Order: sequence, then C-alpha cells, then structure tokens
Amino acid sequence: MSPMPASLSEPRVGVWLIGARGSVATTVIAGCAALTAGLHPPTGMVTETSLFAECGLPTLSSLVFGGHDTVDCPLPKRAEALAAGGVLPPGLPSAIAAELEAADAEIRPGGPAPGDTRDDSELVDAFAADLRDFVRRRGLTRVVVLNVASTEPAPVGSALPPSSLYAAAALAAGCPYVNFTPSTGLHHPALASAARAARLPYAGRDGKTGQTLLRSVLGPMFAQRALAIRAWSGTNLLGGGDGASLADPAAAAAKNAGKERVLADTLGAAPQGEVHIDDVPALGDWKTAWDHIAFDGFLGTRMILQTTWQGCDSALAAPLVLDLARLVSRAHEAGLSGPLSELGFYFKDPVGDGPAALGEQYAALAGFALRLRALPGETR
Ligand SMILES: NC(=O)c1ccc[n+]([C@@H]2O[C@H](COP(=O)([O-])OP(=O)(O)OC[C@H]3O[C@@H](n4cnc5c(N)ncnc54)[C@H](O)[C@@H]3O)[C@@H](O)[C@H]2O)c1
Repeated sequence: MSPMPASLSEPRVGVWLIGARGSVATTVIAGCAALTAGLHPPTGMVTETSLFAECGLPTLSSLVFGGHDTVDCPLPKRAEALAAGGVLPPGLPSAIAAELEAADAEIRPGGPAPGDTRDDSELVDAFAADLRDFVRRRGLTRVVVLNVASTEPAPVGSALPPSSLYAAAALAAGCPYVNFTPSTGLHHPALASAARAARLPYAGRDGKTGQTLLRSVLGPMFAQRALAIRAWSGTNLLGGGDGASLADPAAAAAKNAGKERVLADTLGAAPQGEVHIDDVPALGDWKTAWDHIAFDGFLGTRMILQTTWQGCDSALAAPLVLDLARLVSRAHEAGLSGPLSELGFYFKDPVGDGPAALGEQYAALAGFALRLRALPGETR
C-alpha cells in the first residue's frame, strides 16, 4: 500500500511517543497510516470535524512518528498482536507494513532500564539528544512529545520519576509536551521554573476516554437537575499492559484520583463511593466499567442509575492522541505557551483553570478553534 504523500511544500511535524511500543502508541501509528491511505474514515477524531476546518492544523499525512520505549518488541509484531485481539482491523498491519517499519526505525531505547547507571541529568541529556537528532535527520519543523507510557505510581520524595525525566528532555529540546497518562510528567515541582522559562505550550493529564468521559456528562446532569447524589461507586475490569500496570495499587491510586476529581468538580463535593480497577488479563484491551449511582429525588425518594461501558481502550485513546498532537503542534506554531486549559475536553485532570463538565469543555475547545483560525501559521 503506498500512502498518500504529504505535499512537498507542507512542513513535516514529528510526533514523539513515550511508550512508543505500547497499545495506544501502536494504534496511533497504525491508525494515522490507515487514515492517510484512505482505508478508514476518521471516526472519533474531533480535529477532523468541521469545528477545526481552516484552523491550520497539520495534516495527518505530514506527521512523522518516533519515540522511546524500554521494550524492543517490533511495531509490526505489536500491531499483529493488536489485530489478533480485535483492536486493529484484520489485515491492517500488512496493508501499512511500510509505515510501521518506518516508525519502528525511529524508536530509541528509553530508560531507566534495569541496571542503568546513568544519573538523571545524563538520562535527560540522552533523551533530548534523541529528540534533536529526530528533528535534524527527518527535517521536521517541530516535534510534539506525548507521554503514552505505562502509568507510574505518584513519586515519593523529591526524586524525578521517569515521566518527569522525559518531560525535562522535551523542555531542553524545545518541544511542546502532552501527558496522556496520570503520571507526574511536567507536574513535578522541580520542573516548574524550567517549564515557565521554556515558553512552550503543554497539555494533560490523563486522557478521558471511558468511565470518566461519562462521569463528566452525568455529574453536571445531576447537579443541574438539583438531584442529590448519595453515593457514586465504580469498578473497572481491564487487561492488556495498562491492566497489568494498574494492578499495582500505587499506580491505580494515581489513576483513580483523576476519576474522582471529575465528580468533586462537577458535583461541588466528592460523593461517597470509590473506584476500583481489576486486572483481568483475558480481556486484553477491552474494558468493562460499571458505575452505580445512588441518588435522592423529590421528597427524598431513593433512586439508582447504573451504567455499563464496554470499550476498546486503545481505539478510544488513539484518535484523541492524534487530535492532541495536531492541536499542540498548531499552538506551538502560533506562538502559544504555558498550559492549554482549553484542551481540558480531552483530560481527566486538566491543567489550568478550565471547567470540569464536558459540555463546557467542548465550548472551550470550540473557542480554541476560533482562536487558532485567527492566528498566523506557516501553511496559511
Ligand atoms: N487507552 C486508554 O483509554 C487510556 C486512557 C487514558 C490514559 N491511558 C494511559 O496511556 C498509557 C498507555 O496505555 P497502553 O494501554 O498503551 O499501555 P501499554 O502497557 O500497552 O503500553 C505502555 C508502554 O510504555 C512502555 N514504557 C514503560 N516504561 C517506560 C519508560 N520508562 N520509558 C519508555 N517507555 C516505557 C512499555 O514498555 C509499553 O510499551 C497508560 O499510562 C494508560 O493509563 C490510556
């Protein structure tokens, strides 16, 4: 399959994925190639809707993929495994074999690997050197760094976790940064002054793809109808690499904090009830999320709403990652810097001071689209 080439005059934009061999990253790379080749429609990509027409976003065919990972499973093999699990359409990995090989050749060893003797500054320097090398060799106008690596536990003490080392490398190499995970990334106090000084745009944290997406719609509904929530409890069953990482209670705690924050922000206070995540390897990337919402109506009448979400996590996440790469690239091109709070629509725990309800977040995103339309850019 020969993909539609990017126009020769169009600037090429790098998309550097931390966790480049994971399910989400592989689905992003395979998905972009499939859309560029016209094999599938862009279902789930908000940047392909009319809202973003004339906003000067980079085209999908102008994106060049690379990244870091700590494992060495080749991308074509990872894509075959995802196709076998029903995450990617059957036959897609062979149809886009050339694109998978090209991205695979741009993945560099991440860190710290077991037995790695490099200290923090050596790791940051090595990661930043990989980013600069990518820009130079591939003739890129800019590179957006996106963290889609395994969720880490919240750090204890002042040591920088790996996600923050990568974020520091992005700052050092002058790259805008997106944290699609609940990991610390740019949020570490030790990076605060460097983040301000770098004057780069950034967005995060933790993609909002399933249970929390639903909560950010239902929470405002209960609040606006003046119904009293008595308890809101949730359980997730999930396999795959993400399920395995979240079997660690400390990593799950980092994830659940974002899910619970949405309720506290939309209802005014955190209701009774908890969120649990169970690792069920047999389910692979397919997640079942239940919510059980106990609420009071008029005269204290007790009622219950239960929801069941059965989603394919990487298929939900990948279009959002592509959206974010394009939006943050465009923001960087237009000279925007600091936290992009208008992108709160995409996140469980958004940076900046944006609203928590999905409807208001979509309105903020629409405002961002208007702002981008008015800003100068290289292709406009
Ligand atoms: N899929 C969704 O709906 C969704 C939504 C929100 C957030 N996320 C987050 O996205 C991330 C990726 O999810 P996934 O399903 O692709 O997981 P995955 O386990 O399939 O992939 C994670 C990848 O990160 C790599 N990695 C681990 N430590 C690393 C390091 N120090 N440096 C570089 N790479 C490293 C792993 O080797 C693996 O290839 C997770 O943190 C998950 O919580 C996913």
